[in-house]
Amino acid sequence: MTAQPIVFSGSSHLLLAEEIATLLGTSLGKREIHLFPDREIFVEILDRVQGSSVFILQSLGGDPNIYLMELFILLDALKRAGAASITIVLPYFAYARQDRLDKPGVPITAKLVSNLLIKAGTDRLITLDLHSEQIEGFFDIPVDQRLSRTLLIPYCRALHLENVVVVAPDKGGIKIASAYAKELDVPMALIDKKRIDPFCVEMRLFLGDVKGKNVLLPDDMCSTAGTLVNAAEVCAKAGAKRIIAVVGHGLFIAEALKKIEHSPIEMLITTNTLPIPPHVRSHPCIRIVSIAPLLVAAMACVG
Ligand code: R5P
Repeated sequence: MTAQPIVFSGSSHLLLAEEIATLLGTSLGKREIHLFPDREIFVEILDRVQGSSVFILQSLGGDPNIYLMELFILLDALKRAGAASITIVLPYFAYARQDRLDKPGVPITAKLVSNLLIKAGTDRLITLDLHSEQIEGFFDIPVDQRLSRTLLIPYCRALHLENVVVVAPDKGGIKIASAYAKELDVPMALIDKKRIDPFCVEMRLFLGDVKGKNVLLPDDMCSTAGTLVNAAEVCAKAGAKRIIAVVGHGLFIAEALKKIEHSPIEMLITTNTLPIPPHVRSHPCIRIVSIAPLLVAAMACVG
């Protein structure tokens, strides 16, 4: 095995891959990826990988179906080229929200994706802020899950907010919210969320007090922003002062940014686990914390 692992990137998030390669003091492995005229994906590994330990970085947001397929094909190409071990680095793990049978006739896509990734040749996974804990157990290979809050909590602390309450926007968010509350040594409140359909939720303040307080609203992700915006409206109605949202994954689907802009959310802090479009990056409400150092620390632990 060569001493220096080789870092390849899919096409989903080259900016983050380059940032990671720079921090590791290396350059990205050479590969060719393009579409055939019939839109099948072509991959060719141009560096020698025989006997080497390799990483593939691919964020599965934005266009998860394409990026997953591209990842399977990269895995296959690297296996066939003789890579000794392959660690996939997935800053954002898609299909994770379908992680249990909540009614008859539905799939568990998080389990399906984990099966497919292993079958395609993954030896080890590094990822960040999985939607739920059980997903780690779907993989019968080593999984190193890092948490964005190790970077986001210090960022929040540096805002020097006073009289803070951390509000969980739904029951699923209690664990994240209690970690923020514990680390920042502030109280917590809870919102009860009922999802009407994929685009609509109903909410009410269920536990705790936000009147006259500065609210920190943490969640694992902001997708359509429905959850955060509705939660912020509940808090504003209940008398909250400033409202700051903080999320690991910023998907910003469809009108998400506009909704945030017109909501009581004063600031949304997130990371670059997904590519952040320039209009989001430069928006006065949005703050981005780079996740690259966390992923590099995890990659450095791979022998
Ligand atoms: C829900 O289970 C998640 O933790 C997030 O609250 C949710 O996925 C966010 O989605 P959206 O931004 O579309 O409300």
